[in-house]
Amino acid sequence: MEIEGISNMKRTHGCGELRIEDSGKEVILNGWVHRRRDHGGLIFIDLRDRSGLVQTVFNPEISEEAHKKAQEVRNEYVIAVRGVVTKRPPGTENPAIPTGEVEVSVKEIRILNISKTPPFSLEDFSDVAENVRLRYRYLDLRRPAMQENIRKRHIVTHTIRNYLNSKGFLEIETPFLTKSTPEGARDFLVPSRLNPGLFYALPQSPQLFKQILMVSGFEKYFQIVRCFRDEDLRADRQPEFTQIDLEMSFVEREDIFEIIEGMMEVVFRDVAGMEINRPFLRMSYQEAIEKYGTDKPDTRFDLHIVDLTHILKYSKFRLFSDVFARGGAIKGIRVDGEHQFSRRELDELDEISKNFGGKGLLWIKFSGSGISGPLSRHLADPEIERLKNGVRIKDGDLLLITADTREVASSVMGRIRIHLAQRLNLIKDDLYHFLWIVDFPLLEWSEEERRYLSIHHPFTAPLDEDIHLLEDEPLKVRAKAYDLVLNGNEIGGGSIRIHQREIQSIIFRKLGLSDEDAREKFGFLLEALEYGAPPHGGIALGLDRLVMILCKEESIRDVIAFPKTQKATCLMSGAPSPVDEKQLRELYIKVIQPKK
Ligand code: AMO
Repeated sequence: MEIEGISNMKRTHGCGELRIEDSGKEVILNGWVHRRRDHGGLIFIDLRDRSGLVQTVFNPEISEEAHKKAQEVRNEYVIAVRGVVTKRPPGTENPAIPTGEVEVSVKEIRILNISKTPPFSLEDFSDVAENVRLRYRYLDLRRPAMQENIRKRHIVTHTIRNYLNSKGFLEIETPFLTKSTPEGARDFLVPSRLNPGLFYALPQSPQLFKQILMVSGFEKYFQIVRCFRDEDLRADRQPEFTQIDLEMSFVEREDIFEIIEGMMEVVFRDVAGMEINRPFLRMSYQEAIEKYGTDKPDTRFDLHIVDLTHILKYSKFRLFSDVFARGGAIKGIRVDGEHQFSRRELDELDEISKNFGGKGLLWIKFSGSGISGPLSRHLADPEIERLKNGVRIKDGDLLLITADTREVASSVMGRIRIHLAQRLNLIKDDLYHFLWIVDFPLLEWSEEERRYLSIHHPFTAPLDEDIHLLEDEPLKVRAKAYDLVLNGNEIGGGSIRIHQREIQSIIFRKLGLSDEDAREKFGFLLEALEYGAPPHGGIALGLDRLVMILCKEESIRDVIAFPKTQKATCLMSGAPSPVDEKQLRELYIKVIQPKK
């Protein structure tokens, strides 16, 4: 088959742009053959480009040559057509597509390239295994839904750039080959050929550089920047992902909130055509854990977790009194009587709670005549009365209960809460609930490492009124940190930073870092803090997660052009891959094969 050139056949219109008003116009279209139907006399080709689809018609009475060539084309051939926009005959319109009232009656066709038969259909509703989609990502990205996701992503970044520019922010690049900034994940390392035995780390975030830019007097910095973290992957985590990263000088928490809320307002207006409610709700970390069992609560539905410890702590039921005696907690969720559960479903919930790390889930069903369930014989009447009043139980309601350490009981109930919401269809997917989580603790104790760890990162400032607790009660110190949560997803995190060298040194010491280690790892920051560092703070939003939510996707892989698999591989390019011996020799690196 002859492959022809495009000269004199460059598009005048996008396929998806044609409307009834264009009737009578001669147009040239370029694109891919989405579908071809041969009706004997007439051949129909749905032609697709970035702008959408339009039906083209080949009638031998209009051009015998074009009709003949049209018989040769197959799906995904690249063609150019010249023809006249015409109104479709009555009864053949397709209201499902914007161009559905017209078709293009073709006078000339050129075949710009042929295509093998794609390994899967590019129809949007086609159900293809993700590994096949990722292997042929260039075809997967042709699907209209993927095109739309990537286009939306572009609008989001474009809107954010304009917005931050209008607020006086400067976009400044920071290095990719750098020294590691610990954010809790492993680093990706890059060996230095010129400095044998030494390594760069790819940045987990530009945290230190953006702080240094504040010391340098730029006052408002932002970057839409790739970050690299070698951590276990999930639907909302990739080894390389993009942050909307910003930092400001002479600010307090409220100034950061104002900028980010304004940013979300324009993004949701421009991308989703939606007005969001401002100011965003705020919730303390403590309340989030107590009521929702997580620091990223989905507040689109109720189902609060209630603390039943004070009601059941002296129960005859040994499990409860034992847990209380050991300092644990008894937590419950009330499920409205309108939702019915079979015994089997209740048993399943018990199993699920164990999968979430709990010891099991007990239940009580309340009805006019009393209670039923595994606890019915173990609870005394006054306890039942107090439960009824304390949790505002109505006839027919179900109370689910778990007892464990405070942390486990909360987190298990938090996960059961989400499970129930999905099972009971309580989540409305056109709602967007933004939430600031504030007053995080500064530190947590790691049993494994036998030392304190930063909950956010070591550069987060403690609340002024809590600094005095640092010495004796460090776990009680709250941080000037905040997370932005949207529909149960953590989409951002940031803080007001420590800008005084002494306080930074105290925190490093609390984290078990000797002065020498601190100098070795962060000397440049400590030094910079000695030269007039302004008060400053910032935040980073996860762009991929934000776009995922805007596109109503379940995984960030669907809004990243070339994502990696759960095993951090790229099925299209084959990365990671072995390298030549010579490359390794130049780097003074020897590979030790893992033991099988
Ligand atoms: P943090 O570590 O909270 O903060 O990251 C900010 C946001 O980035 C997103 N995110 C990810 N998205 C996809 N894949 C990942 N592996 C991944 N890891 C994080 C999340 C998260 O909320 N330097 C600080 C910010 C600051 O203090 O200014 C930082 O990186 O949405």
